[in-house]
Amino acid sequence: MKIGFLGTGHITSSVIEGIFKSKLKIKKIYISPRNRLISKKLSKKFKKVDICKNNQHLIDKSNWVFLAITPTVGHQILKKLRFKKNQKIISFISTINLAGLKKYTKTKNIIRVIPLPFIGIKKGPVIISPKDKQVKNFFNMLGKSIEVNDEKISKNFWTTSSFMAPFYNMMMVTSNWLIQKGVNKKVAEDYTRELFLALSEDSKFKNKLSLKQLVRESQTPGGINAQALTELKKKKFYKIQQKVLNSIFKRF
Ligand SMILES: NC(=O)c1ccc[n+]([C@@H]2O[C@H](COP(=O)([O-])OP(=O)(O)OC[C@H]3O[C@@H](n4cnc5c(N)ncnc54)[C@H](OP(=O)(O)O)[C@@H]3O)[C@@H](O)[C@H]2O)c1
Repeated sequence: MKIGFLGTGHITSSVIEGIFKSKLKIKKIYISPRNRLISKKLSKKFKKVDICKNNQHLIDKSNWVFLAITPTVGHQILKKLRFKKNQKIISFISTINLAGLKKYTKTKNIIRVIPLPFIGIKKGPVIISPKDKQVKNFFNMLGKSIEVNDEKISKNFWTTSSFMAPFYNMMMVTSNWLIQKGVNKKVAEDYTRELFLALSEDSKFKNKLSLKQLVRESQTPGGINAQALTELKKKKFYKIQQKVLNSIFKRF
C-alpha cells in the first residue's frame, strides 16, 4: 500500500516513526514538503519516505491520504485539492467535522482518527470514527484502536487528550518537590518517571478492577494516600479538573 501525509509536522513524524517500528507492510510513504526540515529529516532516515513536489502530487500517488494539517490550513487548502473518489482519507484534524471534510474533498470515504504522539513508540489509544475495519487494523499495529461510531462521542476524546501536558506537569511538580527537599535532580526525575509508569502499567494489569476500585484499593484508611486524596478533594482539585475538561470541550 502507498500512503501519503498532507502536512509533515509533529503528528506525522510520530505516526511514521511508529510505522517503521511496526510490522505494517507499506510500499511507499509520500509526504508534503512542508515542514521542510521535518520532511528532509524523515526522508533521510527512512528510504521508503519520498518528499512530493506539492500536495496534489502526493494525493495522486497515494491509496490512503492522511490529513495532518492544522484546521486553519485545512480550511484554506482542502477545497483546492482533487481527491480520488475511491481514496480513503484519514483525518487527524481536530476541528473540521465529517460533513466539512466531505464537502471540501468531494469524497465519502473519510475516517476521523485521533492519534497521540506516543504512537511513535507504538503506544496509546487511537480513536477511530466512524468504524472502519481496515483503519482499525492499521492502527492496532501502532497502538490500541478504539472505534467510536458517533462523531459527537469522539469529541469527548479530543477533550481528554488535552491532559498530556497537565499529566507531565504533575510529574514535574512531584520531581521538583523532591529536588527542593535535597534529592539529586537525576534521582528525582528517574524516580518520578518510574513511579508514574508503574502506576499506569499496574492500572492496566488490574483491568478487572474499575478505576473506582483502584482508587479505593490504593489507600489504607488513615494512611498517607487517603490523606492526600481527601485534602485534594477538599481543595476542589478534581472539581477544577472537571471544569477544565468542560471548558476544553467547548472548542470542539
Ligand atoms: N500533535 C498531536 O499530538 C496531534 C494529535 C492528534 C491530532 N492532531 C492534529 O493533527 C494536525 C497536525 O498537528 P501537528 O501537531 O502535527 O501540527 P504541526 O506540527 O504544526 O504540523 C502541521 C504541518 O502542516 C504544514 N503545513 C502548513 N501549511 C501547509 C500546506 N499548505 N500544505 C501542506 N502542509 C502545510 C506545516 O508546515 P510549516 O511548519 O512549514 O508551516 C506543518 O509541518 C492538527 O489538526 C492537530 O489537531 C495533532
